Formats: sequence, C-alpha cells, structure tokens
Amino acid sequence: MSLFRKKDVEHMLAGAQSAGLKKALGALDLTFLGVGAIIGTGIFVLTGTGAVQAGPALMISFLAAAVACGFAALAYAEFASTIPVAGSIYTYSYATLGELAAWIIGWDLMLEYGLATSAVSVGWSGYLQSLLAGFGISLPVALTAAPGAVPGAATLFNLPAFLVMMAITTLLSIGVRESTRINNVMVAIKVTVVLLVIAVGVFHVTPANWHPFMPNGWNGVFGAAAVMFFAFIGFDSVSSAAEEVRDPKRDLPIGIIASLGVCAVLYVAVAAVVTGIVPSAQFANISHPVSYALQVAGQKWVAGFIDLGAVLGMLTVILVMGYGQTRVIFAMSRDGLLPAALSKVHPKFATPFLTTWIVGIFFGLIGALVPLNVLAELINIGTLAAFSMVSVAVLVLRRTHPALPRAFRCPGVPVVPVLAVASCLFLMINLQAVTWVAFVVWLGIGMVIYFGYSRKRSKLA
Ligand code: ALA
Repeated sequence: MSLFRKKDVEHMLAGAQSAGLKKALGALDLTFLGVGAIIGTGIFVLTGTGAVQAGPALMISFLAAAVACGFAALAYAEFASTIPVAGSIYTYSYATLGELAAWIIGWDLMLEYGLATSAVSVGWSGYLQSLLAGFGISLPVALTAAPGAVPGAATLFNLPAFLVMMAITTLLSIGVRESTRINNVMVAIKVTVVLLVIAVGVFHVTPANWHPFMPNGWNGVFGAAAVMFFAFIGFDSVSSAAEEVRDPKRDLPIGIIASLGVCAVLYVAVAAVVTGIVPSAQFANISHPVSYALQVAGQKWVAGFIDLGAVLGMLTVILVMGYGQTRVIFAMSRDGLLPAALSKVHPKFATPFLTTWIVGIFFGLIGALVPLNVLAELINIGTLAAFSMVSVAVLVLRRTHPALPRAFRCPGVPVVPVLAVASCLFLMINLQAVTWVAFVVWLGIGMVIYFGYSRKRSKLA
C-alpha cells in the first residue's frame, strides 16, 4: 500500500493559497510562452532527418504529431491545473496518484528535460558551425560532432555543444531565469527567421522535388512523425502556467491550441519549402538543414541570418529545459526520493547550485558524445509515456476525486484523454526498437533506485 501513499491535497492547497502567484497571464501571453518553448532544434535540425525518412510527406508527419500533441495538451492542462501548486506534473501526481506513479513520472521527466538540453545543444552546435563557416572559420573535424554522428568522418567530441551547455549551466546556477521580455524577443526572432525561410524559399521551390511524395510509404511518414514530435515539446509549459492565468477556462485551451496551431502551420510550410528546394534524400547528415536549403537556393545572406537567428533562438530552449530539469530533481530530493544534497540551496544565489552543475556537466557530456537522432527518440519515448500516464490520470481522478478544484477541465472527457493515450502510444510504437530497449533499461534503473533507496527514505515513510 505504501506504493500508493499520497501527499495531502488539502495541505498542498493551503500552501498554494499562501504562495499567491499573481494571476496575470492572458491567452496571448500563453501563446507566446508556448511558441518560445516549442520552436527550436526540432524544426531547425530534425527536419533534415524527417525529410530523409518521410520525403516531402514530412508535411503530414508534422500534422500527425501536432494532433497527438493537441489531445495530450488538453488532458495535461486539466492535470496540471487540478492542484494549483506551482511545479511540474511530478508534484501533482504525488498528491493524486501516489508515490510510485509520481516516481515514474518524475523519472520520465528527468529523461525528457535532461536529454532535451543535450539535444538542443547539438542542434545549436550545427547552426553555430554553419554560421562560422560563413566567415570562413571551421573547427577541427574531431571536435565538430559526436562519435559516429557523421558516417565516414572521424568525429570525437561535439565541443560547441558542450561549451554552450556550460554557459547555460553557469547562468542557471547563478539564478538567471528567462524573463517574459526575453522570451518575447526570442519568439520574435524565431518566428521572423521561420517566416524568412518560407518567404524567400518559396521562390526557389522546384515542384518536381515533391515527387515521389512518400518515398518510404506510411511507415516513413509515421516514423518521422514520432521523431518530429520532438519539435512540439515545450507546449507543456503553457499548461504548467495554469495557476497564473487570469481566466484559465477560456485562456488555457486558447493558449494551447494557438501555440500548437501556429507552430504546426509554420512547420508544415517549412517542410514544404525545404523539400521543394532540395531533393529529400540529400538532407542525410546535414546538421543545419533549414539554412542549407537556402544555401542550395543560392541565398547565402538569408542562410546566414537563419543561422544567426537559430543560434540565438535555441539558447532560450536550453535555458527553459535546464530550469525544468533542475526543479524536478529538486522536488524529488526534497521529498526524500533522491539524496538530500540535491535540494541544497546555494546561500548566495538561492539556486540548487550543486544539482545544476551535476546535471549540466552530465548532460553536456551526453550532448558532446551522442548523436542527435538517438537523443530525440529517447526524449520522445519518455515524454510520450509521461503524457499517456497523465491522460489516464485525468480519467482516474474524475472518478476518485470528483470534487477536486480544477482550474481547467479537459473538454470531451472521456473521449479526448482516450484519444490522447491512443495517439501517444501510436507514436511510441513508431519509434525504433533500440529506443524501446533503452527506455525499458531507464525505467528498470528507476525501479531499482526507487525500491532500493527512495521508498525507505521518502519523507512520507
Ligand atoms: N520543441 C523543442 C525543440 O524543437 C524542444 O527544440
């Protein structure tokens, strides 16, 4: 029974009321928040892998991933707003589903956020190198990418990826958080860059490149959708802001659907343009596919601006994900599930300093040593699993805790959460077998730690 022990909901609610976060966000703020967290390595880098796999039908892959995200986001929003306590779904699940489920979700989130920082740092590195190449600067090949990332090249260590992680870790460890102002500037930069790609690229499209439309059939399309899901991760940040929203019932669904919708439209258009400029197979092993397409089109200056915009815009994604990562570990440590040292707060900077550096160096090394596609698949499987659990939880909680205050109620229950679970599972099935093996190993390690360590030391024990 101790596996299902829960934190006391009333107690958490009392804490939340005294915390009194300002309810200042409207639908437009939420949309900006979402777009800022969403646009990053997915569209700028994975588009290349996706195009190789799906061909021009990558457009359909993006739509499929967006639909799955839409269902999951609505369910997620209800869960995240059930108990108005700032924090991640780890905290909510602890109060409602019990300790074991909370542990699994927290363990999954560590995979999501941690590896996402690594993955985005790899994407950042590709664009930085493209930018530098524009100035005639190139790094020694050994330091440009992870071992095995580029077939036939003797790459050893992705130095720019590691360095950017150290820079972001420094900022996080001294307490720098992304402000709304910076987020808005970043959103403007990223959206401008993407619109530039579309507006300039469209004049260089050769429709013949769109044939064959689906070189690898539906398998290719859905395989790519499962990878491109990565490009939409970050929409959860909209749901997590639930308790700071003025009118959650109205603003939250608008914010979620709008940020997903805006990104989906931009992504489909970018996919159409880049696969129209360059034959899809040619994107294999290109680490900056979007600016590459413009280079092929002979638009060297525009390509340079895209490199610059991507380099700037991806920084904020690393910062947001890194922040999420350290706070999940902080919460799990404070609850006794991870060693207490991990929730020690620095006396001067008021941040979990040690945790920030441990995970920064660890995931920095992962970014330097593991190829991007491997990282993206792992992140997706962890995230999709967490979202499925959350969607199930929404159904369970409607039965077990009907009276819980819910700032936002998922529409169309039970259909929407069921569709969310189904679409998440469908995308998971389309990931590679080796990803499943790694995921099961990760969960296994999590179980060993939980039953060997956390369960006895839990503050609730
Ligand atoms: N959606 C985010 C990105 O593509 C994680 O970088």
